[in-house]
Amino acid sequence: LRLFAGSANLPLAQEIAKYLGMGLCPMVRKSFADGEIYVQVQESIRGCDVYLIQPTCRPVNDHLTELLIMIDACRRASARQITAVLPYYGYARADRKTAGRESITAKLVANLIVQSGASRIIAMDLHSSQIQGYFDIPCDHVYGSPVLFDYLNKKHLPDLVVVSPDVGGVARARAFAKKLNDSPLAIIDKRRQGHNVAEVMNVIGDVAGKTAVLVDDMIDTAGTIYEAAKLLRKVGARQVYACATHAVFSPPAIERLSSGVFEEIIVTNTIPVPSDSYFPQLKVLSVADLLGETI
Ligand code: R5P
Repeated sequence: LRLFAGSANLPLAQEIAKYLGMGLCPMVRKSFADGEIYVQVQESIRGCDVYLIQPTCRPVNDHLTELLIMIDACRRASARQITAVLPYYGYARADRKTAGRESITAKLVANLIVQSGASRIIAMDLHSSQIQGYFDIPCDHVYGSPVLFDYLNKKHLPDLVVVSPDVGGVARARAFAKKLNDSPLAIIDKRRQGHNVAEVMNVIGDVAGKTAVLVDDMIDTAGTIYEAAKLLRKVGARQVYACATHAVFSPPAIERLSSGVFEEIIVTNTIPVPSDSYFPQLKVLSVADLLGETI
């Protein structure tokens, strides 16, 4: 077994390697003046089971291209099996056509990864579970939620209600609520007006006087959970927590999340959070052990 890290999340790859009691194998990664990427594996991997750890987070296109080149380099070096470990899968939200003449980019990217030579995928919290089937190779879909609800359970929060910030997230929130002592569930009926613009309409369920825990797969601009949190406060929630596996954190996420609406925002380290983006209400939990165990 050989572990390699792309450049997208070296600290997570190092933690996974530590969990597995092994080192990361050496790989040279360079960018040419025009932005082209060069990768060279620095030791023989002939006949080896190779694991490439690379979330395809921002800059998504660079990290994706780097992953494809890493896979190709390993294939051409005669690795026996190449597993792409994708703590975060970029383009996951483009998983269907919502209007005519659009791309289903999540499928296109899966095709590229498979065609590069990957033989297996380990992915965490894919935006929708049908993306598993976009890969025509084995795909282990693991969830980061155990680290989130373990953390929350230890806080013994009173009068919990788990809230899905949109109708699409109900199954995820329901599963989460079950693990949080079978807490009740509320749903926010949201109407979206455009990409990255969220408009919250109303809350279905009882949240007044309760501790609301918003659950989502990712926080990108934070528009979704910020609007949801403001509404929950307006209708009487006592405290609002937010939980998400992927801290995409595109501007103005930090401003919204640190605005005082949230008691705490709990995310994982599938995507690195830059040190200058930390704020007091942010808690980042590690999924390294979970991914290490899966490997
Ligand atoms: C939507 O379907 C997703 O599950 C997230 O709710 C959404 O992508 C989060 O984006 P933002 O933080 O920009 O509202």
